[in-house]
Amino acid sequence: MDITINKQMVQKNEKEKDFTPVFKINNLNLWYGQDHALKDIKFDIPEKQVTAIIGPSGCGKSTFIKTLNRMVEMVPIVRMSGEIVYREKNIFDPKYGVEELRTQVGMVFQKPNPFPKSIYENVAYGPRIHGIKNKKVLDEVVEKSLRGAAIWDEVKDRLHENAYGLSGGQQQRLCIARCLAIEPDVILMDEPTSALDPISTLKVEELVQELKKDYSIVIVTHNMQQAARISDRTAFFLNGEVVEYTDTSTLFSNPSDKRTEDYITGRFG
Ligand SMILES: Nc1ncnc2c1ncn2[C@@H]1O[C@H](COP(=O)(O)OP(=O)(O)OP(=O)(O)O)[C@@H](O)[C@H]1O
Ligand SMILES: [Mg+2]
Repeated sequence: MDITINKQMVQKNEKEKDFTPVFKINNLNLWYGQDHALKDIKFDIPEKQVTAIIGPSGCGKSTFIKTLNRMVEMVPIVRMSGEIVYREKNIFDPKYGVEELRTQVGMVFQKPNPFPKSIYENVAYGPRIHGIKNKKVLDEVVEKSLRGAAIWDEVKDRLHENAYGLSGGQQQRLCIARCLAIEPDVILMDEPTSALDPISTLKVEELVQELKKDYSIVIVTHNMQQAARISDRTAFFLNGEVVEYTDTSTLFSNPSDKRTEDYITGRFG
């Protein structure tokens, strides 16, 4: 019995180490004024895998994901301590500019938020800001990004029409294309399918599986089936703490914490 447990634990530990981290989070704490929203968060996020963040409303999922590209600092009352290391660089180091970080770490939001511009201009926007002016190069980036976001065939004949004319699911894939156009390393997604119908949701889920070949993805989701379907690793957040973080199949089939078990079996949240 003891031997079996030891063997299982060794195997588990080996598995846990079996990735290259893109982010290392060490003792991260965050307060909104007096409200302690993230408590001693400590875990590593793997490269070229999908990491799901799950947990009940208000547990700090969005707050956490927004620390990774420093968007959370747009809230003036935020205070933080601890460290987030992205590819060996501390993202809070004043020498490491926030703009540089955000070209590496792109974000897709809950509600599709295209600009009130053409489909083409939505995707070309980021590359233009980065100084690309050549029309041929821009055309190529736009096509490549729209193909990467699995929406090219649907929009190739209407590139110069307004993006608001697209369906919600198409708008969300356009926003993913806009994110790909800046050639990020990591893509953060905060409940990217919660405003979408089931068919569009499936398309985005399939796309996420495709994208992880080239990108590291962190996805917040309220939907546990979605986390189980599309992620490699899952972190369960509760009241600002990470209760459990492990490979997705273990978390859903054999959670080690009672609170995780209660949550995934629907006893609360
Ligand atoms: N801008 C803000 N100002 C003050 N408090 C905030 C702010 N944003 C979030 N909070 C608080 O921080 C805590 C975590 O919120 P957060 O939005 O990160 O939760 P969440 O897990 O994403 O929830 P949901 O599933 O509902 O999206 C909550 O108590 C919330 O009220
Ligand atoms: Mg949220």
